[in-house]
Amino acid sequence: MKSCNKRLEAMPFGGLYEIFTKANKLEAQGKRIIHMEIGRPDYDSPDFAKEAVKEALDRGQVHYTDVNGIEPLRKAICNKEKRRFGLEYDYETEISVMSGAAEAIGVIMLTMMNPGEEIIVPSPFFSAYREQALIAGVKLVEVPVRMEDNWQLNVEEIEKRITPNTTMLLINTPNNPAGYVLDRDNLEKIADLAKERDLIVISDECYDEFIYGEEHVSISTLDDMRERTLVVKSTSKQFSMTGWRIGYVLGPANAIKYINKVHQNFSTCATAFAQWGAVEAFNNGDSFIEDMVKEFKRRGDYLYEAFTKIDGLKIVKPKGAFYAFPDITAFGMDEREFCNYLMEEAGVVGVPGTSFGEYGKGHIRLAYCCSYEDVVEACEKIKIALGKL
Ligand SMILES: Cc1ncc(COP(=O)(O)O)c(C=O)c1O
Repeated sequence: MKSCNKRLEAMPFGGLYEIFTKANKLEAQGKRIIHMEIGRPDYDSPDFAKEAVKEALDRGQVHYTDVNGIEPLRKAICNKEKRRFGLEYDYETEISVMSGAAEAIGVIMLTMMNPGEEIIVPSPFFSAYREQALIAGVKLVEVPVRMEDNWQLNVEEIEKRITPNTTMLLINTPNNPAGYVLDRDNLEKIADLAKERDLIVISDECYDEFIYGEEHVSISTLDDMRERTLVVKSTSKQFSMTGWRIGYVLGPANAIKYINKVHQNFSTCATAFAQWGAVEAFNNGDSFIEDMVKEFKRRGDYLYEAFTKIDGLKIVKPKGAFYAFPDITAFGMDEREFCNYLMEEAGVVGVPGTSFGEYGKGHIRLAYCCSYEDVVEACEKIKIALGKL
């Protein structure tokens, strides 16, 4: 076909896809490959949630649902948010269930921003943000978050980037790809700036449950932030339900009303029977989450200890999510070369840090949501491969 939306000419191709394709090719040729490129927990979804889907199908729950999601799911989510994080939202007016957090973030940009406006995003960031901004016709402005600053956001760096066109700020804690958690003090400073400069905040908290020893603070709970924050969450990681496509937005009713309108015109509603399964996950899934997070901590701790013993790799202990984001600059290769070397020499697949924005330079991302045994094997093989350089 001849032409597409001009904005999409800037859409990056390659990155993760290129690495993934190459890894699959090597695997097909019989090479042992350890997949650490994709952020998908290796757990199955909870049995009780799967059973609830089967029952829902048998009951004929195969039709459109309310735009904002079925009432039992909205209630179950709001109860869980209150129980685990102290977030209080009205299930009737302050929540919308979406086809994943990815849809939620795109819909928020389309709903809350005008073409040409700017959204400030700490970089490195989840790569879909860039593409969603392109689709929405808004400008994504990167602000660095650095390992040397213990992965906390320097508010002056945000302030420097605010222009008359800046209307939104998007933060993501716990973070993909860097595994950091923004602490309360840092969030207070970000909140003060958002209030002072009248910014709306998207707070992507998809990894809220994956916290290792710190507390997860939602910026929406800080003074006067609820009215200017849209919290985005998902079932994908916390219940290992990535393929179910159920996420949600929590926010003030006057924003959710318009968000629903845009969501309605994209997907009408999230999948009916998946929503019924998700009700069970939210009502009965606390111990499933606790077991999985405990296991992920074991994997992350192992990886961190092993990496600190590899000459040249610099790493800060991951505090949340399930990603390690070591600094690889000592090896004199760029991120793509380094990932290719690891794949060919060690059979370990990671993602170049630059796939996550300009300030991912000098890093690679390794997802430790594969099995513990794979993490152990990967660490040994990486050590041997880097020892040869
Ligand atoms: C930070 C972040 N936000 C959003 C998403 C999208 O999640 P979902 O599967 O709910 O669309 C991901 C998925 O990897 C993510 O890492």
